[in-house]
Amino acid sequence: MAKITLDNITEEVTDALGKNGDISARQREIMTSLIKHLHGFCKDVKLQHHEFIAACQFLARAGAVCDGGRQEFILLGDILGVEVLVDMLSNPVTGTESESTVLGPFYRENPPVLPKGASTVIKEFPNQETVYFEGYIRDTDGTPLADVTIDVWEDAPNGLYENHDPDQPEFNLRGRFETDENGHYAFRALRPVDYPIPDNETAGELLRFMGHHPMRPGHMHFIVSKDGYRPLISQIYDSSSKNLDNDSVFAVKESLIGEFRKAGPDLDTDLHVAFDFRLKKDAASDRIAAE
Ligand code: BEZ
Ligand code: FE
Repeated sequence: MAKITLDNITEEVTDALGKNGDISARQREIMTSLIKHLHGFCKDVKLQHHEFIAACQFLARAGAVCDGGRQEFILLGDILGVEVLVDMLSNPVTGTESESTVLGPFYRENPPVLPKGASTVIKEFPNQETVYFEGYIRDTDGTPLADVTIDVWEDAPNGLYENHDPDQPEFNLRGRFETDENGHYAFRALRPVDYPIPDNETAGELLRFMGHHPMRPGHMHFIVSKDGYRPLISQIYDSSSKNLDNDSVFAVKESLIGEFRKAGPDLDTDLHVAFDFRLKKDAASDRIAAE
């Protein structure tokens, strides 16, 4: 019978992995590293028992907040920079493809399918600024891609996404567009404003514990997809936002900052954003082509 000590506890736990049941190599890899880092963290900060209990109670409160509309653990992961880190590990940039960033909790599947150039605005807001978004979707060689599906969504000038605001109509400021035969997309929308991530529950507790604020810089969300290419989940950030360097979820990438310029006389919007994306071939479709 081993005597458990401060020096051997980590090894005792990792040695127990798979002792009484089969586990895969990946399970072993994940659990070994998790146990080592968790034990290292507890030793590093000399975690006290009342702090451990407070953390367990915090996690229980976070679990109780989750329902169909709110996934509190993703929000906690966002605040700790974990969602953006995992996204960079899952979608490493290896060539000229566009950078991805976090999906966030506000996406809705099957948005209204709209023709090129149409507006996503269903409800008008006082002082809203209208924007014409347009650009080209290309592959990593620069060839324009036709028939690319582009889902877009954003918050309203009151800082709320439609599905969190009972005063906005269904699917306001959301749409699904396609590129034309030249790989060009275009749609009309509103200037996205800086807004706070949901911070009324444990996400807010964590932000305050970290001495951070809940604000995100104004951005338009995109999912750009086409068969044979890796779907790109990304955002265009407003270069004039005051929270660009102080994002509560650390998701801003320099390559995703767009210029919201005054629109020319040929446009019926206040502002104009030109922004191109590049898609990387799906590794699976490369394999199929080679076979
Ligand atoms: C968003 O951009 O919509 C978002 C991302 C992470 C957490 C909360 C919101
Ligand atoms: Fe957002």
